[in-house]
Amino acid sequence: MISTLLSRLQRGPDGAPAPRLAFGADYNPEQWPREVWEEDVRLMREAGVNIVSVAIFSWARIQPGPDTWDFAWLDEVMDLLHENGIGVDLATATASPPPWLTTAHPEILPVTDRGEAVWPGARQHWRPTSPVFREHALRLVRAMATRYAGHPALVAWHVSNELGCHNVYDYSDDAARAFRAWLRTRHTTLDALNHAWGTAFWSQRYSDWDQILPPRLAASHPNPTQQLDFKRFSSDALKEHLRAEREILRELTPDVPVTTNFMVMPGTKGMNYADWAAEVDFVANDHYVVPGPRERDELSFSANLTSGIAGGRPWFLMEHSTSAVNWQPVNLAKRPGELARDSLTHVAHGADAVCFFQWRQSAAGAEKYHSAMVPHAGADSDLFRAVTALGDTLKALAPVAGSEREPAEVGILFDWESWWASEQDSHPTSLLDYHREALEWYSALLSLGIRADVVPTGADLSRHQVLIAPVLHLVPAELAKDLTRYAEQGGHLVTTYFSGVVDEHDHVWLGGYPGALRELLGIRVEEFGPLPAGRTVELDDATTGGLWTDRITATSPETEVLARYRTGVHAGRPAVTRRPTGAGSAAYVSTRLGVDGLASLLPRLLEPAGVSSELPAEVRGLVEATVRRGPEGRFLFLVNRTDDAVSVPGVTGEALLGTIGADGAVALGPRDVAVLRLPSS
Ligand code: GLA
Ligand code: GLA
Repeated sequence: MISTLLSRLQRGPDGAPAPRLAFGADYNPEQWPREVWEEDVRLMREAGVNIVSVAIFSWARIQPGPDTWDFAWLDEVMDLLHENGIGVDLATATASPPPWLTTAHPEILPVTDRGEAVWPGARQHWRPTSPVFREHALRLVRAMATRYAGHPALVAWHVSNELGCHNVYDYSDDAARAFRAWLRTRHTTLDALNHAWGTAFWSQRYSDWDQILPPRLAASHPNPTQQLDFKRFSSDALKEHLRAEREILRELTPDVPVTTNFMVMPGTKGMNYADWAAEVDFVANDHYVVPGPRERDELSFSANLTSGIAGGRPWFLMEHSTSAVNWQPVNLAKRPGELARDSLTHVAHGADAVCFFQWRQSAAGAEKYHSAMVPHAGADSDLFRAVTALGDTLKALAPVAGSEREPAEVGILFDWESWWASEQDSHPTSLLDYHREALEWYSALLSLGIRADVVPTGADLSRHQVLIAPVLHLVPAELAKDLTRYAEQGGHLVTTYFSGVVDEHDHVWLGGYPGALRELLGIRVEEFGPLPAGRTVELDDATTGGLWTDRITATSPETEVLARYRTGVHAGRPAVTRRPTGAGSAAYVSTRLGVDGLASLLPRLLEPAGVSSELPAEVRGLVEATVRRGPEGRFLFLVNRTDDAVSVPGVTGEALLGTIGADGAVALGPRDVAVLRLPSS
């Protein structure tokens, strides 16, 4: 648990009396001469750093050859950190195999779908399913755990690093063998697999398990269920690696919590983190801002989803950046205030740790232009001063540590299976972007000042009065039942085009769309109406739709039409519907309205649930509000999303960060964050 970790952070000579938020970075001392280490720990203390992640890419240094080990330098690092009151999140060091290993065993290198080897030269060039890699990696894990069990600096284990960042899809022969074993477990018999994969199509019927391959480069669209199962398998294969390392750590150091850093951030889709969360003792995440018009919303969305994956419990921000990264086409420096605001937005969504990649900016290597806590310019820099100020802020926020997120009335369902399935090839449109769809609903809610929780499938739906499930494409019978029960028992479900269309095998629910949700929604669609890029249609409520339309027939006398198409081939037909059912309702939005259109529609969708903004009207959209609650109280976070000063009136409580004026207003400067402990009443 993260509470174990936070309490372990008190063990150093600087141990604080109460749990506090963790603050730190990846620390790579092996890149620097010994004398720099002394300056490092001095500056860490100055900045208020209390945890660092060590040895993430240290395999080649720790084990320079198959039977040679060099722990002396790491012993010294661990001791030095401990002497300075800094805890260590110690990596198992297996993230990137050393040259001696890939030279001796090139069969551990991943293979692309075209059969090309992925060569060493960067990092993470290993097959998740390679027995040879696994053996060497676990030997290293055992050596690390044996060496550092009982070391007083050790507060947590960090398995590998960003599992699947570069190697999630491997099409090698090892992968083929492991895929077959995985398929046997999932489908049991070859007949069941042939049915699930629809192999009656295109003469694909298998008569022996050994005929089955990963979806390698093929003449046309590979079998869609084969593709979907391969995505599931690939996520599971990495999860298996996580488990294998974790089992050794639990055996040798049962009291030390184990985590690995997830990548809930734009562009990462391959790992089903909702499914991985139960494998770690606390959820840790890495997040990097990708600049763009919705970057602020996206950061909040990812932090929010991480909290959802963690079941609302506190989580650990393992990496983000103090300023620019090095891997975007143009790498923008953060503006004044953004370092703190980005960090505190994560805390607002339940992070109990704020860590960065990395402590000291590298002088050499592929990431030398990636920002760090100590930049190339050194400690005499605005960046290091901002880092130190953030350290002070996090100390002031100590009472927040350990608190959970308070559930919001609105939930947005985020489902990896639907993400994977809805974006496969040979579909009605290739323009659909599942993540963007979910983010647009979230942005619309933010713009209205309405709190929402982003939650994975499997979370307790009944916590939310309104549940928005954008493009819930893959709906097994059980999920359809859950959603029906949710609505009948008083929940208000909102879903969209291309939802309810297929089952868990990617087989279409027959009889008309939206298949599994047709009865619940009280509508029927006979044919999809995707729109060419740039084409739009007008609705009679003055909103504009794009991407998709549906020719909807209402099939239930209760089905209400909230908006109709005004233009396009479906002019006059329903565009947005709602069917009351039991104590709740089920609504359907058949076209992509964009953030502004959704913001205009949402009040009508929320109205039956009685949900409205908790924020004063003048700051809605300008300020994001979240609430955490725990034994130390309820905490309101107010994040100024804008570059202008904003005043939030009518606030009561004790300011942990910021000030409440005599007029009862919290004045937020550009990009400022305030945190208030709310009165207990
Ligand atoms: C990832 C990795 C780090 C570093 C950063 C750079 O998050 O885990 O090692 O490469 O990206 O942004
Ligand atoms: C070709 C093929 C058919 C079918 C269609 C799809 O005509 O012969 O089997 O795949 O393309 O448009």
